[in-house]
Amino acid sequence: MTREDGIDEVRARLSNARAVTVLTGAGISADSGVPTFRGADGLWRNFRVEELATPEAFARDSRLVWEWYNWRREIIAAKLPNPAHAALADMERRFDRFWLITQNVDGLHRQAGSTKLSEIHGDIWKVRCTACGRVEENREVPIPIPPACSACGKLVRPHIVWFGESLDPVEFGRSQEAAQSCDVMLIIGTSGVVYPAAMFAPFAQTAGAFVVEINRDPTPYTEIVALSLQGRASEIVPQQLLKLRLGERGRDAAQRGGARTELRVAAEDDGDAVIVGDSGDPAQDVLASTLAGMQRPGAPGALAKSERILVAPDGLVCDPRPALRLG
Ligand code: APR
Repeated sequence: MTREDGIDEVRARLSNARAVTVLTGAGISADSGVPTFRGADGLWRNFRVEELATPEAFARDSRLVWEWYNWRREIIAAKLPNPAHAALADMERRFDRFWLITQNVDGLHRQAGSTKLSEIHGDIWKVRCTACGRVEENREVPIPIPPACSACGKLVRPHIVWFGESLDPVEFGRSQEAAQSCDVMLIIGTSGVVYPAAMFAPFAQTAGAFVVEINRDPTPYTEIVALSLQGRASEIVPQQLLKLRLGERGRDAAQRGGARTELRVAAEDDGDAVIVGDSGDPAQDVLASTLAGMQRPGAPGALAKSERILVAPDGLVCDPRPALRLG
């Protein structure tokens, strides 16, 4: 099967799905410029992640661990969500049930507009007191070392789940339920070697879901999933979404919505992208401008920020409004 055939297959599966669950890893943020953990660019001072992201490492040398997190915080602070993040934020509005499980702590999914998500490994922009347990947001870059709790003055640590620590049981339960009750699961940009996150795909597959991997490289999932699409997340994920096919109800809604909201629907000669007015939604603008760039590779750069893609002449859609449900 070619990659295009594979993408068509995923589109068809998504068109018929009521419940979709997505698991993401560092690979989705790699396209925003955030180093992955196990790629060559993820090494910091030659330490492997397993040597730094542990309670033992923090107990031994909290300064070293905080210096590593300062390095990651500085990189992440300068990055923006990419079209794959935006496409997933869009997707949560399209299905009766949708859940995004992310191993990433960079916050880029939320920045892109995702709300139905479990950040199972925590949040790099939160700190937790080692003495009183208080969790608070902290966006200082760099964070002064040693950072102190605003309540009791004792040392704080990153609010991140390290190797050897347990996931939050509520988030784990929610994620497991989402994995076991979905029709389609997408696994995007994870090496699939860190547990328990790596179990969600087998959970889904055993429960009968159609499991699709999207990754630049082969992983332990590649041989066991229903379909593996090799390539960059920011390219493949929006492609799956762009051509979700509207049913009759959706087409009617699109037409009504188009008239009601005074959208300037302007079909491209050669393609199915249609550009309309200002979305007022930054996540959608990110998605639209890059999709538009992809749609029109000859065009001088992406479209202006205020444009977005809506409905195609043949009923293909990429529209964020909840009214435009598939069906
Ligand atoms: N598009 C898709 N996949 C990509 C891209 C890209 N642009 N770039 C890299 N990848 C793939 C890599 O081939 C690899 O399979 O993303 C994966 C990233 O793997 P890891 O670095 O191991 O990251 P992840 O799987 O998220 O790690 C899991 O380990 O260190 C802990 O807690 C940390 O959440 C992290 C967990």
